[in-house]
Amino acid sequence: MRELSLHILDIVQNSVKAEASVIEIDVNIHDGYINITIKDNGKGMDKELLNSVTNPFTTSRKTRKVGLGIPLIKMAAEKAGGSFKITSEKGVGTVVYSSFQIDHIDRMPLGDISETIVTLLDDKTDFVWKVRLNEKEFVFDTREVKNQLNPIPIDSVEVLVYLKSYIKENIESIIGGIIL
Ligand SMILES: Nc1ncnc2c1ncn2[C@@H]1O[C@H](COP(=O)(O)OP(=O)(O)OP(=O)(O)O)[C@@H](O)[C@H]1O
Ligand SMILES: [Mg+2]
Repeated sequence: MRELSLHILDIVQNSVKAEASVIEIDVNIHDGYINITIKDNGKGMDKELLNSVTNPFTTSRKTRKVGLGIPLIKMAAEKAGGSFKITSEKGVGTVVYSSFQIDHIDRMPLGDISETIVTLLDDKTDFVWKVRLNEKEFVFDTREVKNQLNPIPIDSVEVLVYLKSYIKENIESIIGGIIL
């Protein structure tokens, strides 16, 4: 993986697989760090699974024996002078936190967050995205968008085209002009 936005995609896909109905993603650029929190209300993990989840040989996948999403983001954070934390409760949900020191030589670029937001949109799952830099923030809550669109599905082509440029412009207005 070469971009943080792709790690985010991976971790959010875990939440989708865990049947979360609401997934909150906070990308907070603050004090020399990029802090990323992904919180879901999916099925969660018991203590045993949680304790082994940073080990690449932990997976509930049937197609192969290793699961890499969590070990890889943890490694990327720790290599970039940041930290990693995961908490989870069975039947309640999961929170994955990672931070990255912006000017660390081994930090990967943020990548295209707008693309990640649009890629993940679907009618079943709700997302609350927050992108923050100092006092500026962009909040994108699909529950509000769906209310306004009703009955047009959020993942219809016309809506996606519109949302793509809407999200791009807003993200640009928060973090445009600085190299992340
Ligand atoms: N948000 C979550 N809610 C519930 N269980 C989770 C969550 N995230 C991860 N898990 C559990 O931890 C395991 C390991 O996750 P990880 O992302 O490291 O690998 P994977 O998803 O199995 O495979 P890969 O990410 O390589 O496709 C998953 O198989 C799943 O059982
Ligand atoms: Mg995964």
